[in-house]
Amino acid sequence: MGEYRRIWEQSIERPQEFWGDAARAIDWFTEPKVVLDDSDAPHYRWFVGGELNTCFNALDRHVNAGRGDQVALIYDSPVTGVKQSFTFDELLGEVSRFAGVLRSLDVQKGDRVVIYMPMTPQAVIAMLACARIGAVHSVVFGGFASKELALRIDDAKPKVVVSASCGIEVARIIEYKPLLDAAIAQCVYPPEHCVIYQRPQAKATMVEERDVDWVTLMEWAQPVECVAVMATDPLYILYTSGTTGRPKGVIRDNGGHAVALTWSMANIYNTHQGEVFWAASDVGWVVGHSYIVYAPLLAGCTTLLYEGKPVGTPDAGAFWRVIEEHRVKTLFTAPTSFRAIKREDPDGILLHDYDLSHFQYLFLAGERTDPETYNWAVEMLGVPVTDHWWQTETGWAIAANLMGLEPMVAKPGSATNPVPGFDVRVFDDQHDLGRGHEGNIVIKLPLPPGCMVGVWGDDKKFFDAYLSQVPGYYLTGDGGHIDEDGYLFVMGRIDDVINVAGHRLSTGEIEEILASHLDVAECAVIGVNDQLKGQVPRGLVVLKHGVERDHAVIEAELVQLVREHLGAVASLKQVDVIAALPKTRSGKVLRKVMRAMADGVDMPIPSTIDNPAIIDALRPVLEPKA
Ligand code: COA
Ligand code: AMP
Repeated sequence: MGEYRRIWEQSIERPQEFWGDAARAIDWFTEPKVVLDDSDAPHYRWFVGGELNTCFNALDRHVNAGRGDQVALIYDSPVTGVKQSFTFDELLGEVSRFAGVLRSLDVQKGDRVVIYMPMTPQAVIAMLACARIGAVHSVVFGGFASKELALRIDDAKPKVVVSASCGIEVARIIEYKPLLDAAIAQCVYPPEHCVIYQRPQAKATMVEERDVDWVTLMEWAQPVECVAVMATDPLYILYTSGTTGRPKGVIRDNGGHAVALTWSMANIYNTHQGEVFWAASDVGWVVGHSYIVYAPLLAGCTTLLYEGKPVGTPDAGAFWRVIEEHRVKTLFTAPTSFRAIKREDPDGILLHDYDLSHFQYLFLAGERTDPETYNWAVEMLGVPVTDHWWQTETGWAIAANLMGLEPMVAKPGSATNPVPGFDVRVFDDQHDLGRGHEGNIVIKLPLPPGCMVGVWGDDKKFFDAYLSQVPGYYLTGDGGHIDEDGYLFVMGRIDDVINVAGHRLSTGEIEEILASHLDVAECAVIGVNDQLKGQVPRGLVVLKHGVERDHAVIEAELVQLVREHLGAVASLKQVDVIAALPKTRSGKVLRKVMRAMADGVDMPIPSTIDNPAIIDALRPVLEPKA
């Protein structure tokens, strides 16, 4: 039996033993009394009774072990021309002083702090400072507009919001402060204070008494030591799109998270203390939480924070430049980045300008890596390329080619094998379909450490949304199959979630925004295939009776409305006014049929359709032009 199989079986058959061993890689203030508490199944708790501090494990213990001079964080920002590095000593100094800033604003253990920041070191410092004092951070992606930010503030009810004067999108300055002010104006639970980091590219106007300046407070701040928290205490809340208009606040605990991420660095990524790990994502997404901030630092690696794009900052050689300059061993990004690079430099001419001899692994996630992109990356880079599958909910990979355990022969289009701890099955509504059949991907409970433990502010939601459909299993929301060799193929969502350039969005949420327009009677949003971004949303709206305004004007207003309410990141560029939506006789909108039409895929029209003539009327609107 191969090493992978042996370890995977142990993790499933004897999880206490397996994760109890893995937990030795973490420094505990109090050892856990119970590795896996199943007394409240299907709700499980890991490392009950254990006390630790995640920031201590990410910073202090490396300094205590004499590695304070090693670089912990490299900031590389082609959009501002700034490059900066922090040793573990320096990062610890910044983090403990910012923890002092939060304390001076009366942030205590268990209080929430919303972080709405661009990709600057201050975002990482703020996150670790929260962990240090046991405050619960909730990072909101900088590309979200005020309404989205307001929703998250009202749900998390933070004492403090940490933000910056601006973000920079290639050459465009996005002022964050007006967005934050507008969000707070809509909030029922506004924060007591906002800490604002003034960047030289834009100066934020401060609101007296509420807003305080990062630099000024840091000058006076007293460093604060780590606070012991229970393994089961929340480390952070991260909101993610579900099927409804309201994002769900995924809760991550401290103990399981630290153990799982540390294990993953060695076994999935084969990246160790002192080596350079780069996740080219954003701290606002789960990949950024886990693999820009926590996992590399927990493992004592150097992590890289890149404020730029794969193309345009300045060109399609940007990734190769960063890999060479900072001796990156492992890169983790979304397939869309590689499609963007491939589009600009299909023959990889720019690669010849750089020395990538330190580079050993490419990991891709956020959406399925299409075989064409996979093959191109393998051909260009000559290193193992791993498509691995995961979700905000799990916080780390569910399926991967485990480079540190036993690398397998890859199959393009497959996320390879379940990661130890994850017992992945394919079901129809209630039955295990076994190998070779397409169905809903579920995971047998318990989920391993590091996965979500609940939905913030809604005790029932975790059960209702994920655990109730198939008793004893977690419903992933993805569909796919396991082939005869046990390789997992994740083919796409089974719900209304879409992935746009690796960003997870809910079509339901976009529909709510379109429906709020005064002229709109009803609408549907579908995710259609896009060569660069994987999927992009398209809107279809039916106007209220009697509306006679120019359709083109209304369509443009709707595109703008989504930019204003959700953010440009939704990438909604096309909304069409149509006469009627195709529906079943029971009134269900036939989104799948419209999606197939837009993708140019043949799909039988269901016999339950109420208004077949509408399909013919939709063809010229939806079908791809030859
Ligand atoms: N703040 C403000 N606006 C933002 C933003 C941020 N943090 N991030 C993106 N946006 C805006 C962009 O400026 C763009 O606005 P525009 O429509 O006015 O041009 C819009 O949101 C869409 O952004 P994006 O999805 O980044 O598309 P793009 O066309 O600018 O770039 C790629 C295309 C492929 C280069 C880009 O999507 C990319 O780098 N993808 C990688 C994604 C990734 O790392 N995902 C994380 C999961 S691992
Ligand atoms: P997020 O929560 O933003 O990380 O998005 C999670 C969703 O992205 C998953 O449920 C999948 O639909 C999709 N996804 C992420 N990685 C992969 C992958 N490697 N293959 C297929 N789908 C993926």
